Amino acid sequence: MTRTIIVGGQFGDEGKGKIISHLALNDKPDIVARGGVGPNAGHEVHYKGKRYPLRLIPCGFVYEKARLLIGAGVVVDPNVLLKEIDLTGSKKRMGVDFRATWLTNEHLERDKTETAEKIGSTKTGCGPAVMDRVRRVAKTAQDCPELKPFLTDVPKELHAAKNVLIEGSQGFMLSVLYGTYPYSTSKDVGASSIAADVGLGPKDIDEVILAMKSYTTRVGGGPFQHEIAREEAERLGMQEYGTVTGRPRRISKELHWDDLKLAVQINSATQLAVTKLDIRFPGNAGKKKFADLTKEAQHFVQEIEKKLGVDVTLIGTGPDALDIIDRRK
Ligand code: IMP
Ligand code: MG
Repeated sequence: MTRTIIVGGQFGDEGKGKIISHLALNDKPDIVARGGVGPNAGHEVHYKGKRYPLRLIPCGFVYEKARLLIGAGVVVDPNVLLKEIDLTGSKKRMGVDFRATWLTNEHLERDKTETAEKIGSTKTGCGPAVMDRVRRVAKTAQDCPELKPFLTDVPKELHAAKNVLIEGSQGFMLSVLYGTYPYSTSKDVGASSIAADVGLGPKDIDEVILAMKSYTTRVGGGPFQHEIAREEAERLGMQEYGTVTGRPRRISKELHWDDLKLAVQINSATQLAVTKLDIRFPGNAGKKKFADLTKEAQHFVQEIEKKLGVDVTLIGTGPDALDIIDRRK
């Protein structure tokens, strides 16, 4: 029986999608469930030559036997969900908790505010939907005819299953409590909140994998240390663009150690997943063994372990789900 949560340790876009798809294919969980905010997230999964940009469906969909669930804590835009169900062909194995918040077109309209502009919101309606939930006026998934075929009791399913993988969304520095408030998303996105989103308690969790990219990126407004110019980021091959909004991401070559230490602590990380090592250290693309990495890249991984006090068990070396070093026992 293993219950694993994976969360982001930076500003989102750590490459969780890719790590999750590997874990799903390798560990064959009975269920992959998604917590977090809602369709403001953009996860990119590359599998068998195809790119899947996903905002709601769990990235673990690549393991075809897993049931796919969305927890009560997530705000669900039925239009986004139905499109992704089509894209991934996952109609038969998809479930949405009947208590989840229904994100409506009105929420999308209401996301066009000055605050949303100032913080660089994705304007996907998540903030207003969360607000309505807190005001006790939001409708839930059970009120939405399009979601009827998918309604389920997520905690009940999770507590009955043996192996489950729980996906968080966003990154810890975007938490409304511990991130760079008010330049943050609309909920806490730490591991405890992600567990609560899907109906698991603090003692139900066996492993917490904190995903971190080999450099730091952020999209939207707010403080960001050691930011470099777009031209330099392009030259280094580090420039990225948002999955949901297409906006250029802000780039820092450095790791923000104090933020990462806080994230390790508050998420009770038991493992670290380091992604895009091949971008930070050219010459490591597609490597599948630690010993095959360049010395510089190996030292970098060791430095992370030393500074953060947690083992780096997974290392991403390319975009495909199979470009990975898995050092778990
Ligand atoms: P909102 O949650 O869409 O209102 O956006 C609030 C802030 O969080 C903005 O700076 C967004 O760019 C950022 N944000 C929200 N979700 C994600 C994500 O999944 N990845 C990266 N940034 C995100
Ligand atoms: Mg993303």
